[in-house]
Amino acid sequence: MVKQEDDFKKVISHAKEYGYVFQSSEIYDGLSAVYDYAQNGAELKKNIREYWWKAMVQMNDNIVGLDSAILMHPTVWKASGHVDAFNDPLIDNKDSKKRYRADVLVEDYTAKIEAKIDKEVAKAHKRFGDSFDKKQFLETNPRVVGYQEQITTILKRLGKSLEKEDLVDVKNLIEELEIACPVSGSRNWTDVKQFNLMFGTKLGASADSAMNLYLRPETAQGIFVNFLNVQKTGRMKIPFGIAQVGKAFRNEIVARQFIFRQREFEQMEMQFFIRPGSQKEWYETWKEKRMAWHLSLGLGAENYRFHDHEKLAHYADAAADIEFKFPFGFKELEGIHSRTDFDLGSHEKFSGKKLQYFDPELNESYVPYVVETSIGLDRMFLAVFSNSLVEEELENNTTRTVLKLPAVLAPNKAAVFPLVKKDGLPELAQEIIDDLKWDFNVVYDEKDAVGRRYRRQDANGTPFCITVDHQSLEDNTVTIRHRDTMEQQRVAIADVKSIIHKEVDMKTWLQRML
Ligand code: GAP
Repeated sequence: MVKQEDDFKKVISHAKEYGYVFQSSEIYDGLSAVYDYAQNGAELKKNIREYWWKAMVQMNDNIVGLDSAILMHPTVWKASGHVDAFNDPLIDNKDSKKRYRADVLVEDYTAKIEAKIDKEVAKAHKRFGDSFDKKQFLETNPRVVGYQEQITTILKRLGKSLEKEDLVDVKNLIEELEIACPVSGSRNWTDVKQFNLMFGTKLGASADSAMNLYLRPETAQGIFVNFLNVQKTGRMKIPFGIAQVGKAFRNEIVARQFIFRQREFEQMEMQFFIRPGSQKEWYETWKEKRMAWHLSLGLGAENYRFHDHEKLAHYADAAADIEFKFPFGFKELEGIHSRTDFDLGSHEKFSGKKLQYFDPELNESYVPYVVETSIGLDRMFLAVFSNSLVEEELENNTTRTVLKLPAVLAPNKAAVFPLVKKDGLPELAQEIIDDLKWDFNVVYDEKDAVGRRYRRQDANGTPFCITVDHQSLEDNTVTIRHRDTMEQQRVAIADVKSIIHKEVDMKTWLQRML
């Protein structure tokens, strides 16, 4: 994986150069923290979405899908608590006039301590070689233990202050840690203030009667307000889930790190409705299931960890993140939240409508509790993409850039090349494509030497290259080359489809969750 923060730039430029992600409105110098997914990016995103949807909806007979509107009645956001509590603490530097999220400044500070721990680990690893026991080292090395304690103390205090909305203490913490503005280098800070993240808009043409609306900051509320509709029309029995993928919008203060934190992004959320009292058990179950989904993609178990929340959102009685090791360190990829009956209970109050479930086994009605899993599709894209981008040293002292995307997610599954642009080879290549395209996205490439074409497809993330040569005309065989191993095999054209299918079949990948 590309590790160094500097190399994050390589990830961003690779995403642009190979048609994955572009800055929105680029010809007008772009719009900050808004991105467009290009020809390959749109496919990768679609495949991740499908991988999630299949695991959630298709593989669970008690989970169904939903596609609710982005615009919702404004009272939804009053009931959900977003109007009053969906705030970020912001702080301005008086010299640079730059605005920061106060909690992010502190977290960046602890990330630097974490980097020191990583350095100590790398040093010790070098010193002890194969006999190095990382777990033991982390638990016993006095310097590392000290760093770890420092991080825990800082984050605990930050969590507590945010939970109590003690913004004075958040500023005190920033001052005590002597955090300076990355731009001006000064510690000349304003007070910390709360800033609501919802985008407002208006419904209706006339200024007097227009209704103030919000663009949804999470997809979850579309699920809550449809809970009874789905339960009744689908004759769903508790426990059951409703899953949805869709756009969400947040006026993020700190909008950097590429597609990690955007103002318009996509969420894949699932609300699991359960009996009150069973939330602990379901919370643990969903933590486990979601981690299994991640691990099935083979990005490396060492790149994931759970992080229990110190500061709980206004709706939760327990919450954990699945963090992923992005090029800029471990950061939240997915949240698993035990949301109690907060949302449904609150919508009951605000709408005056009962949102209860009659449990035939208990012979009673109640407002169900909810365990939610919520993952950002764009963050998952970044996790997969950055983890897959590799610079490989080859035996002949050259390097190749290869995007080792999990084959199941790759935008194009194969590229077909005629060795030369004559003698009927392009026609045969096209015939092969015409057959394969019913099953997979396949591209044709006839430009440059075959070696150059291989490199191009490596950088594009295409798992297979198929070369048609003169022998193909005689015996109906082709060369198939595997992206990761660079191995080449001579195979019958008739077998190409099944060879590709074996590697990219979603079922095979999803079965690794079990
Ligand atoms: N319904 C719960 C909820 O929205 P969240 O932790 O605020 O919880 C869930 O968001 C996930 O959405 C995050 O784990 C992250 O992957 C993604 N996400 C949140 N804000 C984002 C942003 N500004 N840009 C991209 N992804 C974001």
